[in-house]
Amino acid sequence: MTGAPLPDRLDTARLTLRPFRLEDVERFARLIGEWEVARWLARVPHPYGLEDGQAWVALAARNRAERASLDLLAVRRDDGQPVGGIGVILADGEVGYWLGRPHQGIGYGAEMLRAVVPAAFALGLPRLWARIAPDNHRSRRLLETVGFTPLDDGDHDDADHYELTAGRWRFLTPETA
Ligand SMILES: CC(C)(COP(=O)(O)OP(=O)(O)OC[C@H]1O[C@@H](n2cnc3c(N)ncnc32)[C@H](O)[C@@H]1OP(=O)(O)O)[C@@H](O)C(=O)NCCC(=O)NCCS
Repeated sequence: MTGAPLPDRLDTARLTLRPFRLEDVERFARLIGEWEVARWLARVPHPYGLEDGQAWVALAARNRAERASLDLLAVRRDDGQPVGGIGVILADGEVGYWLGRPHQGIGYGAEMLRAVVPAAFALGLPRLWARIAPDNHRSRRLLETVGFTPLDDGDHDDADHYELTAGRWRFLTPETA
């Protein structure tokens, strides 16, 4: 890892990714509180109350200050409406992400990942990886679309692992190197 500052804003075509704030809690808690979203997320409580959201905002800020993780809320650029979140654990490069149900199926997942992946590599991480439930076909497809490949690491937990190395990302996006 380099000592480069963690980005506090990443812009995509339709989204801005920026740190979670207390005033966002009501709106993102409603989205992540839906079982259809939460069921895929190993570390997210369900049901999800406002106090869970407040605790998350505090934890994300602390993790940012300690350079433990980069956690960003995705808001629509045109009206500031939260649509989802994405995070990277900086010790090992694990990536996690979610979108609220009304915001799925329109390409925001790829937009978030394609912004966060180069930002994480710019911090010096050699590889990123994600853990997904075997039946999470959408997430699998999304990871493959962005350039992640399945990892046969002999780890027999009940999840599938995908990885993307910095070298492969440079190969896939030579125009940005
Ligand atoms: C995973 C998630 C972020 C995907 O983001 P998204 O922007 O809604 O993704 P899309 O609906 O555009 O789908 C991504 C790809 O999967 C494909 N897809 C959608 N539903 C699918 C299904 N049931 N089976 C296989 N592929 C599917 C899409 O066609 C698209 O592929 P394409 O780019 O080749 O067309 C979103 O569904 C989500 O938040 N899910 C709940 C939380 C979650 O699963 N997080 C990840 C935990 S590892």
